[in-house]
Amino acid sequence: MMHSLRARLLGWLLVPVAAFVSVTGLMSYEAARETAGLLQDNALLASARIIGEEVNWEDGVLIARIPPAALEMFESPYQDQVFYRVVKGGTGLLGGNPNLAFPAHATSRPVFYDSALDGRPIRAVAYERELYDSGTTEPVTVIVAKTQASYQAMLLTLWRPQLVRQGLMLALVVALALLGLTFELRPLIRLKDDVADRDALRLEPIRIERLPSELRPVVDAINQCIARLKLHATTQRKFIADAAHQLRTPLALLGAQIDCAHPCRHCGPLLADALAGIRRSSAKMTEMTNQLLLLAQAESSPPDRALVRVDLAAIVSCVLEELVAAAQRRQIDLGAELGETACVMGSATLLTALVTNLVDNAIRYTQEGGRVTATCWEEDDEVVLQVIDNGPGIPAEARAHVFERFYRGATDAEGTGLGLSIVREIAHSHGGSVALKPAAEHAGLMVSVHLPRRRD
Ligand SMILES: Nc1ncnc2c1ncn2[C@@H]1O[C@H](COP(=O)(O)OP(=O)(O)O)[C@@H](O)[C@H]1O
Ligand SMILES: [Mg+2]
Repeated sequence: MMHSLRARLLGWLLVPVAAFVSVTGLMSYEAARETAGLLQDNALLASARIIGEEVNWEDGVLIARIPPAALEMFESPYQDQVFYRVVKGGTGLLGGNPNLAFPAHATSRPVFYDSALDGRPIRAVAYERELYDSGTTEPVTVIVAKTQASYQAMLLTLWRPQLVRQGLMLALVVALALLGLTFELRPLIRLKDDVADRDALRLEPIRIERLPSELRPVVDAINQCIARLKLHATTQRKFIADAAHQLRTPLALLGAQIDCAHPCRHCGPLLADALAGIRRSSAKMTEMTNQLLLLAQAESSPPDRALVRVDLAAIVSCVLEELVAAAQRRQIDLGAELGETACVMGSATLLTALVTNLVDNAIRYTQEGGRVTATCWEEDDEVVLQVIDNGPGIPAEARAHVFERFYRGATDAEGTGLGLSIVREIAHSHGGSVALKPAAEHAGLMVSVHLPRRRD
């Protein structure tokens, strides 16, 4: 399962923050509830007291007058309903709503309680007062109750700013944490890019400067692994080079021996055919061995001392001279357009092999009577070599594969399939690049090699 370190770290950071915000949110709700409840209860008691003050004896009878001020104090935009009930001695109703319930436990002190009327929740206060008149005392209970709309509104008014503040704080924490995580995880992303963008053959260690200390052991371990791989690759390349080198002597010997064994008059045509076959195989094997050796040499980037100043234009004209006979055999018009000099730093042997392979391919795969042109010139910081032919070209789907080792197109011509791999390795080891393009009007092939120019 894929998971993002950033998302997980953010999660771990957010869990405690969210818990903290929830707890403080709950606490502020409780505080708001207490405040709103206290204000409501105070108003209820004040109203009950005002009503209680107005209950008086008149001619030996208790009369309750309800002053408007006692009920007006509850006026609010929330349209709360206010109820009252004045009772003498526990049963005698002096005024108000008879359905208003008494508190569960009657005491002499004011009692606040929650109740319901007509199915609506109400908050009520019961306030008791003793009234004296000519020797008689009568307990009078005043109950004032109201619905909860204004209370709820006040609760919300008190709580909402707190809630908004907490929400903003949470958002700020998330934003800052995201920013911090993105910023701090950048070395990890850079490291990923560094590794992901690598050429498969570039076995250089990963740079560890500017890496956080937690990542260093990981990168150190990877670097050790890369070093082992590099050693392994070097050993293997050396083995291939040695093997190819060792094969050259017996192959040269074999060639010489075959040349000596001229088919004589006494031997039949069978033996003559066999000898011709052996000669072809031996030549092919020699070519393959030489190409393998070149590839191994090109892959082991040349040590600095092997780099010399080389004029690529001169190399091209040498190679053309050598291949002119092969071109003539196929009636190919072999031409060149060369700049005066085109100097690069590199190995003359390898660069000769590069040019030879390209011109050899062009001659080999272009139809008889075709045209092959090699050009070489200096351009800004580069030396550009182009080999252009008017042969069949390489179909687009094969173009991606021709640089693979041992890949050969559909062709009857002899070959090893290593030529273009060698060309690419040599171009890369000289800090350059190779590109294939269809030559003009989609006929033939144009191979361009760009190498860094040597500045004097
Ligand atoms: N100039 C060219 N024109 C057409 N096809 C080419 C040309 N150069 C290379 N190719 C194709 O690319 C393939 C690979 O070339 P290369 O690596 O030199 O191997 P080889 O020449 O030994 O077959 C060839 O088999 C051929 O099909
Ligand atoms: Mg070739």
